[in-house]
Amino acid sequence: MSRIEAPRDEDTAATGTLLGRLRGGLPADAVLTDPDVTASYANDMASFCPAGTPAVVVLPRTVEQVQHVMRTATELRVPVVPQGARTGLSGAANASDGCIVLSLIKMDRIREINPVDRIAVVEPGVINATLSRAVGEHGLCYPPDPSSWEMCTIGGNIGTASGGLCCVKYGVTAEYVLGLDVVLADGRLMSTGRRTAKGVAGYDLTRLFVGSEGSLGIVVGATLALRPQPPEQLVLAAEFPSGAAACDAVCRIMAGGHVPSLLELMDRTTVKAVNDLAHMGLPESTEALLLAAFDTADPAADLAALGALCEAAGATQVVPADDAAESELLLQARRLSLTALDAVKGTTMIDDVCVPRSKLAEMLEGTERIAEKYQLTIGVVAHAGDGNTHPTVCFDASDPDESRRARESFDEIMALGLELGGTITGEHGVGVLKKEWLAREIGPVGVEMQQQIKRVFDPLGILNPGKLF
Ligand code: LAC
Ligand code: ZN
Repeated sequence: MSRIEAPRDEDTAATGTLLGRLRGGLPADAVLTDPDVTASYANDMASFCPAGTPAVVVLPRTVEQVQHVMRTATELRVPVVPQGARTGLSGAANASDGCIVLSLIKMDRIREINPVDRIAVVEPGVINATLSRAVGEHGLCYPPDPSSWEMCTIGGNIGTASGGLCCVKYGVTAEYVLGLDVVLADGRLMSTGRRTAKGVAGYDLTRLFVGSEGSLGIVVGATLALRPQPPEQLVLAAEFPSGAAACDAVCRIMAGGHVPSLLELMDRTTVKAVNDLAHMGLPESTEALLLAAFDTADPAADLAALGALCEAAGATQVVPADDAAESELLLQARRLSLTALDAVKGTTMIDDVCVPRSKLAEMLEGTERIAEKYQLTIGVVAHAGDGNTHPTVCFDASDPDESRRARESFDEIMALGLELGGTITGEHGVGVLKKEWLAREIGPVGVEMQQQIKRVFDPLGILNPGKLF
């Protein structure tokens, strides 16, 4: 039986002061202290990431309330961990001991949708899919679409610089964030960027905040660029006898100047996992399944040209979806991939290595070698058109040896990505999971400059400490 330690007097007194101060500027129901409840806010969705015990969880509804929280945190030198929906995959939203978890999910209003300026102004807790649907009613679209789009928040997307399935054509979150309202560590409010189509006034602080994982300030509002809604996309599935052949098809498609709205790869392990979980009837004999789509005026014609390239690269079957419903089913299968792989052995570590597209085949072959070496199941699902792979290590967390091999193989996959001229993370961020790998990727000078930037915004080191570096 573990020994329960009585809280030390000074701890309780400090927590008492903290709670008292917080309650002075927040409604009673916005301050959660029940340990069972606060513990449920300790983690995001990453495996192998340490998480501490929060002192309190706060759920502000206004900018002023966030300012109050930050003033209090600065005054009492208490760490603050900002959170969205906690769907992140690098531990960036994990609590640290004694911290204030600052959950922004209640700040969920869409303040403006402006079809002339093609922008939306939103609070950070708006769910990605909610925004997509709302702007859709105006004939507009907000493209970034992480697989977790039905759950994840815009604030979280900004914090981690999320990508998604349509990025191969439309780009990632950073390309859609025009301006931000940010509460700084000391509680001051800063506005960055613009709501105009162009603007180059000063340093691009907006871009700096995208992907900063809550380490520089609290995003309390965002001005986002929108695009006209494209026609509904039509999807094609192509089966390949090897990962290399599928990668060859990707190279032919990109070199050929095609602009698909989706170009995703699922390997045999992933296809089988999805079938086992959801009985989708995907072809299990194939080594690699490529999903491609066009949202152009004549998607069937564009898919026919793309299909021919797949056949030239060795595809054994090329099957265009009959209609939008069938297309959506294929996308659902793809979005389910990580959940399905998780069910294989109960736990996964999801790599996020992005390599130049021309190196995709080498990345896949190397991953296969690593799986062999460590005797592990590693399913690969990839945003193939971006060279962004998610080699997903499936393991049994109750088996210490398998867990050790999982961590080692996860790291070796990042090393391989760097060797191939890639990055350790295309869209999930660094968090606590890849801290030492960030240093390997950007080098000591890069780390030092980034730490100096951090100190400018957070001189007391209270903003999401222990993340990134
Ligand atoms: C995906 C997430 C894991 O691609 O990034 O499904
Ligand atoms: Zn992804």
